[in-house]
Amino acid sequence: MPKLIVTTREGETRTVDAAPGLTVMEAIRDNGFDELLALCGGCCSCATCHVHVDPDFADLLPPISQDEDDLLDSSDERDEYSRLSCQLPLTDALDGLKVRIAAED
Ligand code: FES
Repeated sequence: MPKLIVTTREGETRTVDAAPGLTVMEAIRDNGFDELLALCGGCCSCATCHVHVDPDFADLLPPISQDEDDLLDSSDERDEYSRLSCQLPLTDALDGLKVRIAAED
């Protein structure tokens, strides 16, 4: 079962187990991080699941879609490691993935 290492906006870091097949957003939400709103439920239409991904994992992630790219452009907090966590399915290859929940816009 892949492990996901999540850092909150306050800087608290916690490691959680995530079933393969879940998205990073679902794993964060299901483990009680209520600051990740994920308002659209994973339909790639709200950008409230914005995270910054550890650079070491950037190449292992699926490519960014046009919709995700457009939504991230609406965030003042975007940087080169920004992704929408609902667009990142967890796989065994992503075991140990580190993400930081982005500041609220
Ligand atoms: S949950 Fe809405 S874009 Fe990810």
